[in-house]
Amino acid sequence: MSANRPAAVVVLAAGEGTRMKSKTPKVLHEICGRSLVGHVVSAARELAPEHLVVVVGHAREQVEDHLSAAFDDVRTAFQAEQNGTGHAVRTGLQDLGSTPDGTVIVVCGDTPLLTTGTLRTLAATHAADGNAVTVLTAEVPDATGYGRIVRDGASGAVTAIVEHKDATDSQRAIREINSGVFAFDGALLADALGKVRTDNSQGEEYLTDVLGILRESGHRVGASVAGDHREILGINNRVQLAEARRLLTARLLERAMLAGVTVIDPASVQVDVTVTFEEDAIVHPNTQLLGTTHLAEGAEVGPNSRLNDTTVGAGARVDNTVADGAEVGDRALVGPYAYLRPGTKLGAKAKAGTYVEMKNATIGEGAKVPHLSYVGDATIGEFTNIGAASVFVNYDGVNKHHTTIGAHCRTGSDNMFVAPVTVGDGAYTAAGSVITKDVPAGSLAVARGQQRNINGWVARKRPGSAAAQAAESASGKAESES
Ligand code: UD1
Ligand code: CA
Repeated sequence: MSANRPAAVVVLAAGEGTRMKSKTPKVLHEICGRSLVGHVVSAARELAPEHLVVVVGHAREQVEDHLSAAFDDVRTAFQAEQNGTGHAVRTGLQDLGSTPDGTVIVVCGDTPLLTTGTLRTLAATHAADGNAVTVLTAEVPDATGYGRIVRDGASGAVTAIVEHKDATDSQRAIREINSGVFAFDGALLADALGKVRTDNSQGEEYLTDVLGILRESGHRVGASVAGDHREILGINNRVQLAEARRLLTARLLERAMLAGVTVIDPASVQVDVTVTFEEDAIVHPNTQLLGTTHLAEGAEVGPNSRLNDTTVGAGARVDNTVADGAEVGDRALVGPYAYLRPGTKLGAKAKAGTYVEMKNATIGEGAKVPHLSYVGDATIGEFTNIGAASVFVNYDGVNKHHTTIGAHCRTGSDNMFVAPVTVGDGAYTAAGSVITKDVPAGSLAVARGQQRNINGWVARKRPGSAAAQAAESASGKAESES
């Protein structure tokens, strides 16, 4: 492999991408949790090139900021005016200073499905055939808009690439197209780029003209045909963006399934490239797994769930849930209809049940918050049970405060824990309590108004009503029974 290590990779990403009809530069649109150019740079970096340079132009600062945030070591070259792909590569090479000694790979920033494997095959073919240039081509069902690969009728050798706009009718019938990905001999590339002219329909310096120039001066021009034409799909509009997302999602889920993950309905699942799985995880329909989400062995997620940067422990069950930055312990239960916000940590076998929202909360092993509750800025000890419809009142309008509930507590339904407050181990609280003061371990806290019954109120105030009649017959019954 090191024999095929490229001297440089040049990524072309200076174009505006007008057909996206977007304020966001084309190469910053995302699929599966990564920008288009991010996918290309990631695949290229795997080749361990000596230099990697991204040619930027349109929305330069935005693209540069994005690249430096996503990668620690990406260099950019500025192409002030987009005078064509040939000019873009020239700009990239100039930025490197001296002409790279060895193979230079050129890729476009808008082909996110390209794999490292295909780039390796291209570099290997290029080296084995001793070519001056090797173009990655593919046979596509619809070649409209692409540059066509023109081959010599007798030898089959590539003679030229003709852009769609410059092609004759018979050339337009060719279905083998230029992917925009090349391997070049660095020195020959630099030399040929100096000879590229602009007498074409777009008045641009075409990188593709380098092939004809090298061939005419007696150098070997070769092609490597991609096994799967979908891999070189270039994104120019949002229809292609959706298609690329669909293809990449299918690829990621296929990899997961072959590694032992059950995906009930792959067509309804979305997954980011950074998501990881262990064996026997199960993904139910209509589920989005995003960011650094991890499903441990036997974890079951969905249906109708969106997990971002969330870890789901072994054998845990997460149903109809939205979670962001949460940790779900082994065999914990979440949902249906739970919302776990950043900083939620559920211990092993803990539960965040139906209509439960949690934020910045640590829930101990086996502790349960089963119904209709908000738990914010809290610590709940192991095996404690929080009654239905409880609210951890964490916000006084200015600051957030913390609530601590001990282990093995039984708090009543409809409690308000007005933070900061602490409930000791083994304590109970009565239903309907507003807990404003600390509760010592083992005690029962009752914090609610005393009940008062006003006898005969309905007969006096609502005479003749259905309620009064019901009350009257009840008292009759009571009398006859006594
Ligand atoms: C290009 C190829 C075409 C190929 C197609 C594959 C040329 C002349 N044409 O056409 O043969 O079939 O890609 O998708 O090479 N860019 C710059 N600076 C420029 C011009 C372009 O950085 O001055 C970048 C763009 O941002 C883009 C890439 O180069 O990432 C390709 O440019 P684009 O305008 O999309 O070329 P196509 O017309 O698609
Ligand atoms: Ca393109």
